Amino acid sequence: MRKFSRRQFSKLTSAAALAASTTGLPAFAQTTSAPSNFANPSPDDRAHATEAQMTDDERFSLIVSLLGPASIVPRDPRIPADVKNVSAGYTSGVPRLGIPALQSSDASMGVTNPGYRPDDKGATAFPASILVGSSFNPQLAREGGVAIGREARIRGFNIMLAGGMNLARDVRNGRNYEYYSEDPWVSAVIGAEAVNGIQSQNVISTLKHYTLNCNETNRHWLDAVIDPVAHRESDLLAFQIAIELSQPGSIMSGYNKINGVYASGDPHLLNDVLKGAWGYKGYVMSDWGAVPEWEYALRGLDQESGIQLDVKQWGAEAFTDKLKTAYRDGKFPKERLSDMVRRILRSAYAVGIDKWGPAPAVDMAKHNEIALEIARQGIVLLKNDGALPLATDRPLKIAVIGGYSQQGVISGTGSGAVNPVGGFAGVIKIGGAGVMGGLRNLFLFPPSPVEELKKALPQAQIEFDPGYTPAEAALTAKRSDVVIAFGIRVEGEGFDLPDLSLPWGQDAVIDAVASANPNTIVVLETGNPVSMPWRDKVKAIVQAWYPGQAGGEAIADIVTGKVNPSGRLPITFPASLAQTPRPELSGLGTPWGTPVTIRYDEGAEVGYRWYAQKSQKPLYAFGHGLSYTNFSYSDLKVSGGETVTATFTVTNTGKVAGTDVPQIYLTDAPGGKRMRLLGFERVALQPGESRAVRLTAEPRLLARFDAKVSRWRIAEGAYQIALGKSASDMVLTGSGDLKGRLFGK
Ligand code: BGC
Repeated sequence: MRKFSRRQFSKLTSAAALAASTTGLPAFAQTTSAPSNFANPSPDDRAHATEAQMTDDERFSLIVSLLGPASIVPRDPRIPADVKNVSAGYTSGVPRLGIPALQSSDASMGVTNPGYRPDDKGATAFPASILVGSSFNPQLAREGGVAIGREARIRGFNIMLAGGMNLARDVRNGRNYEYYSEDPWVSAVIGAEAVNGIQSQNVISTLKHYTLNCNETNRHWLDAVIDPVAHRESDLLAFQIAIELSQPGSIMSGYNKINGVYASGDPHLLNDVLKGAWGYKGYVMSDWGAVPEWEYALRGLDQESGIQLDVKQWGAEAFTDKLKTAYRDGKFPKERLSDMVRRILRSAYAVGIDKWGPAPAVDMAKHNEIALEIARQGIVLLKNDGALPLATDRPLKIAVIGGYSQQGVISGTGSGAVNPVGGFAGVIKIGGAGVMGGLRNLFLFPPSPVEELKKALPQAQIEFDPGYTPAEAALTAKRSDVVIAFGIRVEGEGFDLPDLSLPWGQDAVIDAVASANPNTIVVLETGNPVSMPWRDKVKAIVQAWYPGQAGGEAIADIVTGKVNPSGRLPITFPASLAQTPRPELSGLGTPWGTPVTIRYDEGAEVGYRWYAQKSQKPLYAFGHGLSYTNFSYSDLKVSGGETVTATFTVTNTGKVAGTDVPQIYLTDAPGGKRMRLLGFERVALQPGESRAVRLTAEPRLLARFDAKVSRWRIAEGAYQIALGKSASDMVLTGSGDLKGRLFGK
């Protein structure tokens, strides 16, 4: 399945090379099956040998998973009574053949516990994936993954449903906080390292939701319509590269349809593309409640997940009695059943979930440090008219307004929400329509930003105002030197945003405090872009996303300059929804169960690519993020050939140390204008220091997918390249000539 030869691998951008090198294994050895021999059989050989010894009952038991007891389903008697550590999925093992039970848990931001395990005292709540995306730091994603893998291990979970790979196509998507970015390359290299980290602990990880589950609106009835070629060049490319770089043991198919066919039963996307063209050898599990028919087994789905939810959703389990009947009737071939089982076994062996020794040591203080470091690197300074950093040695009177910032920082909601160690600082029920309404809460992680600001600013006099009304907050703002106003928005699974405003009148509160005191700094905790009608009235804006359990401290570090901000936006902030590909979101607000069609007519021109094509100036561009120092770029040299390589020098021209994230873009190509991020690198520099950077583009980012031959094609000619600070701020340009060629699949 390995797609990169050793030589090709060295051609990946340095971001990916760094990503690969962090596994501690040579890049070319990470995913290659061990050579098949008697003493050291490959995972494929072992899977074949084990499967051959199984009974049909054992085979059938392996291709379903049961949801643990949750508020929506009682404990299923098929889960043995002595199994305590249940969560999203339980599948009986086959002890006589050394096959462990398969036990899965959500998800990308830590090991969740939505009421399954009352004795579990909590896990590390890492920042949202979109914040990991804004760190532009694959290495850090890996460190987070290692920590999550260890915390899964000590709880007995050998599968993490972690690795949100959908592109943030629509700024209203409630689950964008669980995804890394709007860009295939950023999503792939960061998601791959998160998976590599988890799998390094002998825990399978899962890239999800394959594919185009890019909105939550009526997701079980959502038909995502897209041009198939554009799909290959965008969302599918993110999955393809991430799979190559990390060999995830499982892929989770989405709830939605794609061009009229349900993702979990789409033979083209599962068989022709994923398992055929890409040679994926792991298994495909469905999302929970995504399998209406047993025939999905014929179309490429290998495991039906959370079968009780299929009963709720579609009236019956699909891969149990119905599939057994089809098997007896000769409608479901033995070879396909064996293939499903072998794929599951192969992943178990390849990742090593059958070889667990004693549980690894888990240092929760260290995991908190990792969560803190991710938050520090992923928080984005959007605007700064000199108000930040705050002086720590002056007796400033600071008003901290709103956002429950006296209690904690907020998180996204749904299956990915993590219960932190020691519990939440507060939980406020929000509710809403549909099955996910019950999980929609305002979760607050301690410690609070107010406490952390007090620690970081010992000379300051800090007064908290809840932002209860604009008038009251303005009174507090008026008697202060500086105002830090928090804006929060709960987003999550099952809900798309109707617009980009802040809820509960917070926009009016921020407006009022900024009118009362122009020295206002806004800190946003959201999972998506924000409309910011008050933007021109405030001095600084910090996008903190959902910063995880150490978010309060990270916010204090950034606003006081203990940490120089280095996050960059992985998603464009539009000036208004009118600029986006879908000013109106079809189906928004229709009752649960209404068939909805969402046309992704932007095709592969997702996010910044769309704004460039339409010559639109967004509020804040993809890749944007300020620092307390300045960086200059020089000596851009671009060479061509098989792919584009760019070399350049970055210099810290300011007075403090900082980290820049220079970005290389394709801006024009034979056949027409095309914007593509080709590479990026984090460069840490002392004042006055310079560093030479070399980035080599993954060739598929320069190519088009040729549907006639089902291969990637680079057209011969000149490719225009720019080195920029964001997708809207190009500093130097160059050009490289590429040879025409067909390659890959
Ligand atoms: C979500 C998945 C999650 C699964 C199991 C579904 O509702 O879409 O992302 O892994 O539940 O909890």
